[in-house]
Amino acid sequence: MTQSTPPSTVLDRVLVLEMVRVTEAAAIGASKLIGRGDEKAADHAAVEAMRAALNELAMDGTVVIGEGERDEAPMLFIGEKVGSAQGTGPKIDIALDPLEGTTITAKAGPNALAVLAVAEEGNLLNAPDVYMDKLAVGPGYPDGIISLAKSPTENVKAVAEAKGVAPDEIIVCVLDRPRHAELIAELRGLGCGVVLIGDGDVAGVIAVTNPETTIDLYMGSGGAPEGVLAAAALRCVGGQFNGRLLFRNDDERGRARKWGIEDLNKIYTRDELAKGDCIFAATGVTDGSLLKGVKRMKDGLITTQSVVMRASSGTVRWVSGEHRNKS
Ligand code: FBP
Repeated sequence: MTQSTPPSTVLDRVLVLEMVRVTEAAAIGASKLIGRGDEKAADHAAVEAMRAALNELAMDGTVVIGEGERDEAPMLFIGEKVGSAQGTGPKIDIALDPLEGTTITAKAGPNALAVLAVAEEGNLLNAPDVYMDKLAVGPGYPDGIISLAKSPTENVKAVAEAKGVAPDEIIVCVLDRPRHAELIAELRGLGCGVVLIGDGDVAGVIAVTNPETTIDLYMGSGGAPEGVLAAAALRCVGGQFNGRLLFRNDDERGRARKWGIEDLNKIYTRDELAKGDCIFAATGVTDGSLLKGVKRMKDGLITTQSVVMRASSGTVRWVSGEHRNKS
């Protein structure tokens, strides 16, 4: 656990609960588009709502992980300043994904989330929008039990031994992608249960921390920004994470260098991706393993379920919302 992380004086306690308002707003915004087959419209609705909610908060915020670079994203781009107290309020870095699971939302599938993490300035890795190889295990294992420097087989065997079970009792969550065919074959060769998810690896990684999912490990590549968000969540609830950026071409390598990343092969630990005290908040857009999705009921009632956690205290709050007079 992370009890030894000192509380940040910049991350005001009030801000913890305010973060839920922000993810709730994004989730409610996207919810109108659940199952409507339009990924872009769902994303746009979430982005607009999250941006408006962030701009109501009295902080001097900077988006460090957002919708893309300035020339690609009109709103919540990397470097955008948010908050109503620019120059006077607490300086806060924000990693956000207003709609993690655009395709899921368009198809009304499981595990779409509105999600963000905040930390003091300079404490979240400014990850470029490239792929990241990810490896995660839940809390309660010796430090360093998993490593991206080891093979999937070695990691499964290490966790199985520490858990006191055979490797064929280990359950691994993996994104269902052709690029993972070899990984899935290796895991099945060991007899592991492989839980394939269509999208949404922030929820996939967090699932290792929830015994009810029975998932022991998360493995495979997905978005690097989502990796930083997942690492921030694990800072709060425990569990280990390794991430290594993956580059497909020189343009992607250039993006990483632009954000000050020099060692392109570095294996990042959880605490190198999200340092110091941090807050992680998420609201379910569609039902999933972590949260229930937004329900738009009769007479304009909208219900939400959210979670907000803080690394320094290890406190996890589950927040049910009933919203009226919202569209
Ligand atoms: P979007 O919400 O941007 O569609 O991301 C969904 C997601 O599944 C992420 O959770 C994951 O990190 C990434 O896409 C994987 O990328 P790809 O679909 O290219 O394999």
